[in-house]
Amino acid sequence: MAKKIIKSLPDMAKARNRVDLPTVKIDEVMVTTRVAKFAQGRRYLIKTFGCQANIRDEEIMAGYLEKAGFTRTEDEKAANLVIVNTCAVRENAEEKVLGEIGKYKANHAKDKSFVMCVCGCMMQEEGVAEKIVATYPYVNLIFGTHNVSNLLDLLDEHLEKNKDLIDVISYPGDIVENLPSSRLDPYKAFVNITYGCDKFCTYCIVPYTRGRERSRAKEDIIAECKELVEAGYQEITLLGQNVNSYGKDFKDGTSFADILEEVAKLGIPRLRFMTSHPWDFDDKMIDTIAKYPNIMHFIHLPVQSGSDEVLRRMGRRYDKKAYLDLVAKIRAKIPDCAISTDIIVGFPDETDADFEETLDVCRKVGYFSAFTFIYSPRKGTPAAVMKDDVDAKTKHERFVRLVATIEESVSAKANAMVGHTYAVLVDGPSKKDSDLLSGYTETNKLVHFKAPTYLKGHIVDVKIDESHTYSLIGTLVGDPLSYMAKDIAKCLGEEEVVKAYFAAKKAFDEDLSLKEINAKISAKQKEMMDFSAKNDTDNYEKAKAEYLKAKQSYDGHPLVNNLLAAQDDLEPLLKEVEARLK
Ligand code: 5AD
Ligand code: SF4
Repeated sequence: MAKKIIKSLPDMAKARNRVDLPTVKIDEVMVTTRVAKFAQGRRYLIKTFGCQANIRDEEIMAGYLEKAGFTRTEDEKAANLVIVNTCAVRENAEEKVLGEIGKYKANHAKDKSFVMCVCGCMMQEEGVAEKIVATYPYVNLIFGTHNVSNLLDLLDEHLEKNKDLIDVISYPGDIVENLPSSRLDPYKAFVNITYGCDKFCTYCIVPYTRGRERSRAKEDIIAECKELVEAGYQEITLLGQNVNSYGKDFKDGTSFADILEEVAKLGIPRLRFMTSHPWDFDDKMIDTIAKYPNIMHFIHLPVQSGSDEVLRRMGRRYDKKAYLDLVAKIRAKIPDCAISTDIIVGFPDETDADFEETLDVCRKVGYFSAFTFIYSPRKGTPAAVMKDDVDAKTKHERFVRLVATIEESVSAKANAMVGHTYAVLVDGPSKKDSDLLSGYTETNKLVHFKAPTYLKGHIVDVKIDESHTYSLIGTLVGDPLSYMAKDIAKCLGEEEVVKAYFAAKKAFDEDLSLKEINAKISAKQKEMMDFSAKNDTDNYEKAKAEYLKAKQSYDGHPLVNNLLAAQDDLEPLLKEVEARLK
């Protein structure tokens, strides 16, 4: 179609390339006058499918659009620019995506300047972009995971030439820093530490759609996390397809444990990470998690299968024993660590015996939670061409048995929480019942409880009353206002003037010469009273002179003056607190 400009199309062979080195680019975030003019008064909506990497891409695209002047809307009908951010991990995600694109036909019919974009992992698959433009002629921009930072350039070109563009690059991928970002949550943030994946598990499309494994520089990650801590974020999740690989590409000995430790030291109340590969989960990582109380005792450790033969064909690089040994090692050092997993059933030619091994792992580990999937062949991956004699019915039966087995441990662990109190980071009103709030425990368990909405974003104590296997019902422990007071105290405690005041007060309280002077002042005051009662003028005058001398040395004492100066500095802050509390 003449209206379309195909700048580049994906190529799975090129996507395997791990030879070229990545470059680090600093984005200047340029907004052309054309784009800025177009953005005026227009609203954008982004629909994201898939994993946290896609959610983070959504935040970055939202950052670009807001820099240009667009505002966010959740109302599909009111949107002037829509981005469908796709996932390619399993086939059913694709079906949902196609249905989603279909929804916006009416927007295009109503508004000729409406811009429809499709991006993400699915676009990186060969043939998909062509299929989409053939089915949905109102799609204006198609791009992939490697050129999210070109969003505004593509939009500019589309507006300038009045043409639709397809630009999906298949290359190992670069690292772009200084990305704009409009975060979806004011308390919980995702921070990318690695991009892409080099593991090439035989069933997985990710190494092709997201390119080579590449680590962000430590300073860039720390700077981003520091900003989040300063902005009051309560939780950071370090993200990577395989976080354990962090730093291996630097070839200088940097490891994931190093970055985990450095971020933990920044003082974020909750630190999480995902996903970990069981193959290179080293002791240093376990020790670091055990050492820092703000690193959550929750590890997502995908096992995928319990059968050594299936694991070998999946290219997972560990066997059942190695996985169970790792779990035992984690539990020995972090006894209360919750472990969750991903499991695929129905991998090509999986036998009953293979499947029983998977159930055995589930029983032995006792997962706290799990994501379970039926194997879905992905075109271009090695597993897609493997012989598979297992019928769909058997796969489905295994899936049902797997879910039931996992539920046994999930429910036992949840039941064991009843009667105990846990720290919960409050997300806001519960989706289940707006009279309740909901939040997550350190082990990622969803809890609903009654409490005032102003506790959103706070970490509060909740006593668990009931278990509903996948969620819990509890009661807030303590006075809700006390959590706010603690917060004010914490904020104030971090202010330099408050710190200076407490230091001056401590020096004042502990100084022995001042203690002596104060004792003298009190003694002479008492003598003055006694002599005055006896009408003994001479001695009264003598006591008075000594009192005045002591008072003078008190007033001129440097520690007294320091304290007074610190009090003066503190006063405006106290006035501000008073004003805010009114
Ligand atoms: N079929 C089914 N599940 C898959 N996953 C990845 N690729 C496939 C596939 N082709 C699952 C794995 C992975 C999770 C994110 O998705 O369990 O850990
Ligand atoms: Fe896919 Fe394996 Fe990489 Fe995970 S580690 S993203 S399953 S290839």
